[in-house]
Amino acid sequence: MCGVFGYTGKSVANDMVFQGLKRLEYRGYDSWGIAVNNDGKIQMFKDIGEIQEREGLKELPQTTTAIGHTRWATHGGVTVNNAHPHMATDDKFTLVQNGIVENFSQLKTKLEKLGYKFTTQTDTEVIVKLIEEQSKTTEDFEIAVKKAFKLLEGRNTIAILRINGDILAVRNGSPLVIGKGKDGIFLASDSLSFAPYTNDVVLLDDYDFVKISNGKLHIENVLTGKEKKIVVQKLKNTYTNIEKGKYEHFMIKEIVEQEKTIFNATEYTQTELKPLVQAIQEAHRVYVLGAGTAGFAAGQIAYFLRNIAKIDTQEVRSYEFNTYKNILKKDDLIIAVSQSGETADTIEVLEMAKKHGCKIASIVNMLGTTISRMSDFKYYTNAGPEICVASTKVFTAQCAWGYILAKTIVGELKEAKKNVTDLSNLLTKYFSEKTYSSIEKIAKVLKNKEHMFVLGKGENAYTALEGALKIKEISYKHIEGFAAGELKHGVIALVAKGTPVFGIISNDEDCKDLVSGMEQVRARGAMTIGIGDSKFSKLEVFDYFLVVPQVEEISNISNVIPFQLISYFLSKELGNNIDKPRNLAKSVTVK
Ligand code: G6P
Repeated sequence: MCGVFGYTGKSVANDMVFQGLKRLEYRGYDSWGIAVNNDGKIQMFKDIGEIQEREGLKELPQTTTAIGHTRWATHGGVTVNNAHPHMATDDKFTLVQNGIVENFSQLKTKLEKLGYKFTTQTDTEVIVKLIEEQSKTTEDFEIAVKKAFKLLEGRNTIAILRINGDILAVRNGSPLVIGKGKDGIFLASDSLSFAPYTNDVVLLDDYDFVKISNGKLHIENVLTGKEKKIVVQKLKNTYTNIEKGKYEHFMIKEIVEQEKTIFNATEYTQTELKPLVQAIQEAHRVYVLGAGTAGFAAGQIAYFLRNIAKIDTQEVRSYEFNTYKNILKKDDLIIAVSQSGETADTIEVLEMAKKHGCKIASIVNMLGTTISRMSDFKYYTNAGPEICVASTKVFTAQCAWGYILAKTIVGELKEAKKNVTDLSNLLTKYFSEKTYSSIEKIAKVLKNKEHMFVLGKGENAYTALEGALKIKEISYKHIEGFAAGELKHGVIALVAKGTPVFGIISNDEDCKDLVSGMEQVRARGAMTIGIGDSKFSKLEVFDYFLVVPQVEEISNISNVIPFQLISYFLSKELGNNIDKPRNLAKSVTVK
C-alpha cells in the first residue's frame, strides 16, 4: 500500500527518491509522484502505472531535498490528479499521506462550507486544506500542521515538503522510519527502501512529529509537545541487494529460497524460545492471529500448538478478532503473525489486547516494524526481503517457526531441528527441472479452467486454504480451498465434469477420508490432482499426482509448495504480472 519516501542530503534528491520509490514498489501501488524543492519553488511530477523514467521527471531541477509517494487508491480513482504529492493552494508546501482519513467526509463538508474548493477525490486533499485553514490561526506553519493532524481520525502518516526546503512528517498508525546515512537523511515507509545507503535507523512512535531542516533532525510528540531523544539503532540483516539474480521473477526466486528459509526460521535456541514457552504455559488461552497468508500461517501454528504441545490455542483472522473481545482475558496470550509487521488489522487487535493487559508475542519478517515493537516476545522469520506480493517463503518460515515452538514446549526441540533440516535437504533436490516440467504440464491443463477446488484435512486443512489463495492471487482463477469435510455440505454441488479438484494427502490419520472425498468428486466427473506423499501416487482416484517431499509432522508445510509453483507457472502461461498481481498490495497498512 501507499509508500512514503523522502531524502535530504548531498546526493541528487530526485534520483534518491526515484530509487527509493522503486524499492517501495513491492508494497503495491497504482500511481506515484515526486516533488522537489528548488529556489523557493516546489515542482512535481506524477504519473499512473509503473515507476519509470519519464520526460517530465527528467525536467525536474536536480535538488538536494525531495519527497515521493506510491499510491494505492482508496479514495478516488487511479488518475494523475489523485496521485500524491498534493500541492497547497498557495504552492508553499506539498503533502503525501499513507492511511485513511476516517472522518474525511465530515472534514470535507466543513471545509467546503468555509469556501475551500477541492480538485481531487482524495482524502489527502482534506489534510492539505485543513493545514491551510489552521494556518489562518497561527503564523507558525509547524503549529498549523500539528493542529490539523490532531483533527484527523484513523491511522495516518503524512510527509510534507516546504518551499524553505524543510521536510515535516507525522506518524500515526501507518509506518514511517528515519534512516541516517553518511550523506543524508531518509524518511520512508520501510527501512528496506533505503537499505543500500544505511542501516542506521531512528524508529518512530505514533504521534511523533518529525522535522528535517538543514540536515538536522528534530522529533517531538505531537500531543505533548515533548522533544524526543534521537536514538539511532543499527538494524541487523540489512538487505542491500534486492535483485532477481538468475531468476525471471521474484516469486520463483523466493519459492526456491525456501530450501534455506525454512531452516533459518527455526535457528532459535531453547534459551531464546524459553520466555515464550513459559508465557504459553502460563497463559489462560493462546490466540494466534494474522491476515491473508499470515492468517493461514496462524492457523497452522495454532494447529501445531494444539496437536503437538496440547495447548488450548485458537487461531483468529485479525479482522474478525472483535468477536472474541468479550471473552478476552488479561492472562491470555496473543501471537501475531505477519510478514510486514505493519498490517493495520493485526495492529488494531494488538492495541486492544494491550489495553486488556494481555502479553503479546510475534513472528515477523521485517525488522524494526510496529508489530515487533509492540511485542513482549519478538521473533523473526529471518527469510530476507520478500518482494513478490504473494507470500511464499515467509509463509513456510512462519509455519516452521510454529512447529519448533510447539516441539520446544514438549522438550523435543532437537527432533524438530532434525526434521526441519531433513526437509530443507529434500527441498534442495525437489527444486529441479523435473519438478518444474511436471508442474508446467498441470499448469497448461488448468489454463482453460475457470473454477477449481482444493481439499485438505486435519494437518493439511490450512495448506488447502493457502494453496488456493496462492493460485487465486496471481492467476485470477476462481479457486477455493476447503477442509475436506465441507465437501458434502455444499462444495460438491459445484463440481461438474472436468472441474479440477486438488486433494492434499499425507500419510496420516486423515488420508482415508481425503481419498473418499476425492472418490466422490471423481464420481461426478472432476479432474483430480493429488498432492503429497508418493505412497498415494499410484491410486486410481488421482488423474494426476504431484509428489512432494514428506517429513513426518511437517509435510503440511512442504505440501503448499506445489501450489506456489502451479500459481507461478499458470500465471506465466496466462501472461499475468506475477510479482505484482492486480489490485493486491503486500503491506496492508489501511483497514
Ligand atoms: C496482503 C499480502 C499477503 C499477506 C497479508 C498480510 O494480503 O498480499 O501476502 O499475507 O497482506 O500481511 P502481513 O504483512 O501481515 O503478513
